[in-house]
Amino acid sequence: MDSARRKNYLDALGLELWQPRSGKPAKPAAPVAAPQPVRYETATAAAPVQLESTPALQKFPESAAAGFEAPADWQGLKPAVAGCTRCKLCSTRTNTVFGVGYESAPLMVIGEGPGADEDAQGEPFVGRAGKLLDEMLRAIGRSRREATPDKAVYIANVVKCRPPGNRDPEADEVQACRPYLDRQIALVQPRLIVALGRIAAQRLLSTDAPLSKLRGPLYEYGPAHTPVLITYHPAYLLRSPGEKAKSWADLKRVHQLLAG
Ligand code: URA
Repeated sequence: MDSARRKNYLDALGLELWQPRSGKPAKPAAPVAAPQPVRYETATAAAPVQLESTPALQKFPESAAAGFEAPADWQGLKPAVAGCTRCKLCSTRTNTVFGVGYESAPLMVIGEGPGADEDAQGEPFVGRAGKLLDEMLRAIGRSRREATPDKAVYIANVVKCRPPGNRDPEADEVQACRPYLDRQIALVQPRLIVALGRIAAQRLLSTDAPLSKLRGPLYEYGPAHTPVLITYHPAYLLRSPGEKAKSWADLKRVHQLLAG
């Protein structure tokens, strides 16, 4: 990763590059250890994740998704989401927020749900947290407007409509939207999914384990067993500067996993 890019991200996070007192350039940090023989833990909507040593799994009602097949291609999926009335969020939204980025990106980033800015513009992560997400992605050479696989990313949310007052999406809303997200994942076929924050991670993996327990291992999701890495939500990083260094470590790991 080039140093200018890294510096931009560290600047955006308010982290300073460490310099030795002598003024000599610091030795490059040891590379982040490649994840050990990955202990994948299975997470699918149908079969709740088996998380060792984590609290009880949250059971989502299956009924909301039962009997519903999301359209199989982008041409069908986009209008289906735009006109969706499968849950109560449709009555308070301004716009649905489908997703953005290269539709065959190796990296898919999943957030929890649109906020006010996203609801107004119909695009995920366009507010303050979105600006930080863009910086984070830029630090690993990626951007939502790029189509080159090494630079591409696809960004979506667990729910496509804004929960009123930015409350957490509820179980029935997540379940109603799940077929759309699953279809997006199936169409993008990412090599890696990054779930941003506790809510996205819990909803994706169908667990109520805290982020501190979930962050670290790689999980796998869905029939393609796509690896899932969990990291901090950029909105949380804006509020909790103390976690920024850990977020940077996660980003380096994302970069390495995709490079490997
Ligand atoms: N937070 C999210 O999780 N998603 C968005 O699209 C915006 C903010």
